[in-house]
Amino acid sequence: MISPKQSLNAHEIQTWMVSKLAELLNVDTSEIDIHQPLEDYGLDSSRAMLIVTQAEKIFGVEISPTMLWHYPTIAALSQRLAEDVEETNLVGNVINPNLAKIADTSLDLQAEVVLDPRIYPPSTSFVFNPHPTAVFLTGGTGFLGAFIIRELLTQTQADIYCLTRGKTIEEGKNKLQKNLAQYYIWNENLSHRIIPVLGDLSQPLLGMDEVEFTKLGNTIDGIYHSGAMLNYVFPYAAMKPTNVLGTQEILRLACTGKLKPVHLVSSVAIFESDYYAGKVVKEDDEFDHWEGIFLGYSQTKWVAEKLVKLGYSRGIPITIHRPPLIAGDSQTGVCNTDDFINLAIKGCLQMGCFPDVNYMLDISPVDYVSKSIVYLSLQQKSLGHAFHLQHPEPVPFMDMVKWLQSFGFPIEIIPYEEWQNRLTTELVTPENPLYTLRPFLLERWSKDKLTVPDLYLNAHRPQISCAATQQALAESSIRCAPLDSKLFITYSSYLIQNGFLEV
Ligand SMILES: NC(=O)c1ccc[n+]([C@@H]2O[C@H](COP(=O)([O-])OP(=O)(O)OC[C@H]3O[C@@H](n4cnc5c(N)ncnc54)[C@H](OP(=O)(O)O)[C@@H]3O)[C@@H](O)[C@H]2O)c1
Repeated sequence: MISPKQSLNAHEIQTWMVSKLAELLNVDTSEIDIHQPLEDYGLDSSRAMLIVTQAEKIFGVEISPTMLWHYPTIAALSQRLAEDVEETNLVGNVINPNLAKIADTSLDLQAEVVLDPRIYPPSTSFVFNPHPTAVFLTGGTGFLGAFIIRELLTQTQADIYCLTRGKTIEEGKNKLQKNLAQYYIWNENLSHRIIPVLGDLSQPLLGMDEVEFTKLGNTIDGIYHSGAMLNYVFPYAAMKPTNVLGTQEILRLACTGKLKPVHLVSSVAIFESDYYAGKVVKEDDEFDHWEGIFLGYSQTKWVAEKLVKLGYSRGIPITIHRPPLIAGDSQTGVCNTDDFINLAIKGCLQMGCFPDVNYMLDISPVDYVSKSIVYLSLQQKSLGHAFHLQHPEPVPFMDMVKWLQSFGFPIEIIPYEEWQNRLTTELVTPENPLYTLRPFLLERWSKDKLTVPDLYLNAHRPQISCAATQQALAESSIRCAPLDSKLFITYSSYLIQNGFLEV
């Protein structure tokens, strides 16, 4: 067994990483290829960071969250770590628990908004089709994408062509089925309408050849773009190929063959610039300010949405949908247990304390988000507009904590600074999900040296209005389930039942 801060060479580090990865994936070590990017093993950022943070503790070096991007394979990462270990031993460095981060000041997001000049609508005029027979969806193997599939199956008669990463169509089909089944959505009788399309957002023409791309462009009547790389620690450059260039390829597809609308799943994160702090932002307001958006993920969402707006100015029909954090299904409670809200709640419960913070609970149930996106996409008057899928009746974050207390979870409420201090101490071990989120929670950004959670405090946030969206939904039967104890009982019951939370 390797003891903490032991001096190791690259081969020993490699062996340790292979065994850790195999343990995490529940496979034999022989199945791990040290030259395969960790991302290909389906590791999301929090699970990849679990290995990294354990390594940090054991090898006694600080591992920058971006190192995984620069050194994506076990072979490359072990080599780099061995060099760091050697250097640390020479100069006697110690781990700095208060991870400090200097923002990449050279990044000009406005200059990133460059849309290939060849992407222009064909000369034929656009006719809106409220009854599409075929649509294309990205992100169908993800959380929101699964629920968009459910809504497309119920609100339309369309076949749904789903972009799927995989080597064979069979593999793509299985991936989609497994994902839908996990969210209680798989319906064998409707499965013939779900058609996998192999490809990759980060590749030119989505990884297809020209013939396939053109055929797809001629087949579909609309595009739902929900696919994206969600990662709280990687820099802009790591996510640009998927989130920014992928969106450019989606706009290219919209103009290939007949012109078709693009329904973009964006995010309220596009308003993270401190310019908007304390201001009311409405759906169709401009969002030209990007200075002060620190997360690489949010930066890519800002640029991607700007590209779509640029496409609109060239004549591509669009709708834009900005969800807040997406919570579980309000009826079944089923949710993505790997997402930020659930990991944060689980981590705080394990710590036995929550920070006393002045946040509004910025969440909407996934069924509300997906129903709204599909309904709004089918209304001609939605074209050219953005929608805010915020909860129309938000509640303070502390209400949720009090509900959790009343359910019997033993929770202490402590000042935010004390909670932050506890995060950096030995009390939070690598088994706690918050441990892997430490780079996101503790890195200090901006001239005021604030952490990202500091920036989310009400004082630093805009008020995101959803009045126009509520108006646009008024004639539908879509209503957002209230954020009350009934909803939280549904959510916690699901999380307890599937073993994610313990009482
Ligand atoms: N979840 C939230 O709280 C939240 C909040 C606001 C906005 N949003 C937005 O909502 C959308 C969906 O989020 P989600 O929660 O459903 O995320 P998710 O569960 O992580 O799903 C992401 C989807 O994108 C796909 N994807 C990632 N990289 C790809 C690539 N290179 N090529 C093809 N597909 C790729 C994934 O495919 P694989 O299965 O192959 O990885 C997966 O289907 C995103 O645009 C996100 O920015 C989410």
